[in-house]
Amino acid sequence: MPSLDQMPSQIKPRLAAINQQHLLHFYASLAPAQQIALIDQIASLDLESLPKLISEYVLTKPQLKLPAKLAPARVYPNDPTDKARGGEHAWDQAAARVRGEALIRAGKVAAFVVAGGQGSRLGFEGPKGCYPAGSVTNKPLFQIFAEQILATQRRYSTIVPWYVMTSPLNHDQTTSFFRQHNYWGLSPEHVRFFQQGVAPSIDMKTGKVLLAAKHEVATNPDGHGGCVRALHVSGSLADMQKRGVEHLCYFQVDNPLVRVIDPIFLGLHVGDGKGGIATSGEMSSKMVAKAGPEEKVGVFVLADGKTEVLEYSDMPADLQNARDSRGNLLYNAGSIAIHAISVEFLSRLATDARFTLPWHRAEKKIPHVNLETGETVSPSANNGVKLEKFIFDALALCKQSLVYETLREEEFGPIKNATGVDSVVTSKALQTSRAAKWLEAAGVSVPRKTDGAPDCTLELSALTALAPEELRGAKLPKAIERGTTIAL
Ligand code: UTP
Repeated sequence: MPSLDQMPSQIKPRLAAINQQHLLHFYASLAPAQQIALIDQIASLDLESLPKLISEYVLTKPQLKLPAKLAPARVYPNDPTDKARGGEHAWDQAAARVRGEALIRAGKVAAFVVAGGQGSRLGFEGPKGCYPAGSVTNKPLFQIFAEQILATQRRYSTIVPWYVMTSPLNHDQTTSFFRQHNYWGLSPEHVRFFQQGVAPSIDMKTGKVLLAAKHEVATNPDGHGGCVRALHVSGSLADMQKRGVEHLCYFQVDNPLVRVIDPIFLGLHVGDGKGGIATSGEMSSKMVAKAGPEEKVGVFVLADGKTEVLEYSDMPADLQNARDSRGNLLYNAGSIAIHAISVEFLSRLATDARFTLPWHRAEKKIPHVNLETGETVSPSANNGVKLEKFIFDALALCKQSLVYETLREEEFGPIKNATGVDSVVTSKALQTSRAAKWLEAAGVSVPRKTDGAPDCTLELSALTALAPEELRGAKLPKAIERGTTIAL
C-alpha cells in the first residue's frame, strides 16, 4: 500500500495522460481521510477507457445506424388464438403454463429487481422501492413485490429467491428498509442484495469529469445493463447456480402492477419447439401494444433477423407512424422492461472477456463543485452526461429470443414522475382499475362512473390473489359502495 504522500504521484500521471488532472484540484486542502477516499475512488474508475468514451459519447452524439433489414418483431399474442390477427400466431398457452409452473415448483426460478437507479424524475428522498405506492394502503413498492413472492412461494410450496440490485447511492438505505420491515415475511436468507457499478458523470461541453464534492468524483449508477457484470462479480450468479436457479424474472422497481413470477411467460420463455412456440430459454420479453405512435417507449423489432429493442428516440417518424394492412401500428410492440433471463445466458456473457454492452448517453442536470470558487453548483439546465448500459441490448446476443404480449391494464402502471404521465396518480388509478376488473370477474359489483372508471378506490394484495382466478370462491363483499376506499 503506497503511503499517503505517494498516492497522488501514482495517480497524477494517469490523470494527466487523460487530461483529467483537475480531479486533484482540491487535494492539498483535504483532510487525510478525504484524501484517501478521493484517491481510492479515482483508482477504482476505468481511467484509461475514458478518452474514447468521452469523444464518442460526450463531446459527440452517436448516431444510430438503422439496420439494413428492419421489421416488426414476432410477438406471441396474449390471446393465443387471436382472431383479429387471423390466428396466425396461435400457440399452446396451456402447455406453457404447465411448463412454467413446473419450473417454479422445482425451485428453478428467482425474482430479480433492478433498484439501483437514481429516481431523479420522481424526486423522492430515498430509494424508489421505498416509495409509498399502494393505491389505498400506501404500502411501499418493495412490499408489493415481497407479497407477490410470498404468495408465489405459498401457492407452489417452493422457495423463490429474490435478488435485489442496488447502487452505492442507495444500498445501505435499501437493506436497512428491508430489515426495518422484517422483509415483509420473506426469509432473509433467500433475499440477496448486491451493488452495481458506477460511471463518472462528465461535463458535456468540456469533457471533464465532474467533482460532486472537493473529495468526491461525481458518478452515476452504470445503468440497468450494469447488472450483467454486477451479478457475476457479486457472486450472485454463483449463488443461483448453487441453489439450482435456472431462470430469472427481471423487473423494474417502479411498476407495482408487474406480475413478478408469471408461469405462462416462463413456460413460453423455455419453449421446447412444440405447440407453436420456438425453442428459446435465453432472454425473453413482455410487450404491450403502444398507446399511440408518440408514446415514448422502446419497440421490439427484428433488426437483420434479430429481436432487439429500438429506442423511441432512434425511430424515424415514418416508421413510428407506419400502419399494417389492418390499420394497426406496424411497430406496436412497446417494451415494458420485463424479461425472463436464463442464468446460463448471463454466465456465458459475464465470463466472456470480450463481452460488453454499448453505452448510452443521457443529458442531465448534474450538481458539481466549481473549480474556481470551490462552491457547489446546482445547474438549472442540462450540463452533464450520464453514461449508462441497458439490459435490453443483451437481446442482440441471444441465439433466439421471444416476445410475449401482455395487457397494459393488467401489468403496466409505472411510477416515473411526481405528477402527470406515469406518476403515482396514474399508477394508483390503474391499480384500482385492475382490482375492479378482477373483482367483477369474481362476481363482485363495482360502481362505475359515466366514463367507465371505477367510482371507488381499490387495492388488492397479492396475498389475497396473485391472479384473477384466485378470487373465485374467496370471501368477498357482494358489492363495493360508491365512493369507498377498500384494501383487500
Ligand atoms: P429509469 O430509467 O426509470 O431510471 O430506471 P431511474 O434512475 O430509476 O429514474 P430517473 O431516470 O433518474 O428518473 C428503470 C429501472 O432501472 C433501474 C431503476 O432502479 C428502475 O428500476 N436502474 C436504472 C438501475 O437499477 N440502475 C441504473 O443505473 C439505472
